[in-house]
Amino acid sequence: MNNERELLMIPGPTIVSPRVLRALAKPVLSHVSGEFVTGYAEALTLQKKIFGTTGTPFLLAGSGTLGMEAAIANLMEKGDKVLCVENGYFGEKWEEIVETHGGVVDRLRFNWGDPVDIKQIKEKLDTNEHKLFTVEHVDTSTGIANPIDKIGQLRKNTDALYIVDSVCGMGGMPVKMDQWNIDYCLTGSQKALGAPPGISNFCLNDKAWNAVENRKTPPTDYYVNLKKWKPIMDKPLGYFATPATGLVLGMLEALRIIDEEGLEARWKRHETYAKAFLAGIEALGTTNFPAKGYNAHTLSVPKIPEEWDDAKMRSIMYNKYGVIIAGGLGKLGGKTVRVGHMGNDTMNDLIATMAAMESALAEMGHVDDPGKAVGAMMKVFIKS
Ligand SMILES: Cc1ncc(COP(=O)(O)O)c(C=O)c1O
Repeated sequence: MNNERELLMIPGPTIVSPRVLRALAKPVLSHVSGEFVTGYAEALTLQKKIFGTTGTPFLLAGSGTLGMEAAIANLMEKGDKVLCVENGYFGEKWEEIVETHGGVVDRLRFNWGDPVDIKQIKEKLDTNEHKLFTVEHVDTSTGIANPIDKIGQLRKNTDALYIVDSVCGMGGMPVKMDQWNIDYCLTGSQKALGAPPGISNFCLNDKAWNAVENRKTPPTDYYVNLKKWKPIMDKPLGYFATPATGLVLGMLEALRIIDEEGLEARWKRHETYAKAFLAGIEALGTTNFPAKGYNAHTLSVPKIPEEWDDAKMRSIMYNKYGVIIAGGLGKLGGKTVRVGHMGNDTMNDLIATMAAMESALAEMGHVDDPGKAVGAMMKVFIKS
């Protein structure tokens, strides 16, 4: 297999536009050069627009997990109670971060793939015991999208800060941070933003920033102390720690691509991708793992019937067709596969992926009528 032509269709990292690759290939700039400082400032401005906020943006070297940890390290203090709303692997990950920083977890756990119950979240928040509450926008383990807009309505009647992990949503599905009362929202570069891994993007609104300013105890972390970084985010000419100059400029190009496409158009395109992929997998005789109507637009998580060998299917897809998809995560291993369709992926990429999946299944004796799934997908694209 010529690995320069592999089709990377996992739910992050995703395929990166040649425009971003060209930006990454430029000679390294000084972090105080005019070109870099101007570029960093532009990236921060575009980030705010994409997050739908007038708050404070942070764009730092790191991965999505850094944005999760920065929320807890800065907004929470030892002994604070945190409500973790969970319906998948990444929702559960918050517990460990909260405990690492000395917080008290109040877990509200739903079955993986089931929608969260807003009434139960309200009951918890009505106790007024929580410093913050965490919600996944899209949980990449199951492919579910949680209604972060509706959950945001609850924030009006509580002092608890609303933290949203949109690592697998931002740039592919609507996120309106200010309109939806989200106090802290985070994402990462390698998913629907369409840049390589290595950048952590997050924003705080004024309420969250006030919480950082008015802590009773100083943060116990140094690199992730947001007060140290804030002057750089306000004016990227200063120095706290060397920024990842190349990655920042790669991210800038990715953010420009999003801005040029327009958020509404980009969200619509992802919605079409999700619909098309679902039509394809239903033609294969299966469906998506999450509860009907809660499917994310950035990835699909088809259920694998018992008689299918998902490892064999993925191996044929890769070795014969050069298409890479991901296996099920954690307890969904062997029961699902995960296909990313986000960022700058094209219809062409999706058609090739479905064709590879359908061909592999036909070769394995599970599909009698190859072409049906690709055809179902094409019908959605033709109408779009
Ligand atoms: C929903 C979600 N949250 C958080 C993370 C963690 O991000 P990272 O792996 O970039 O640290 C991921 C990673 O896939 C994710 O999908």
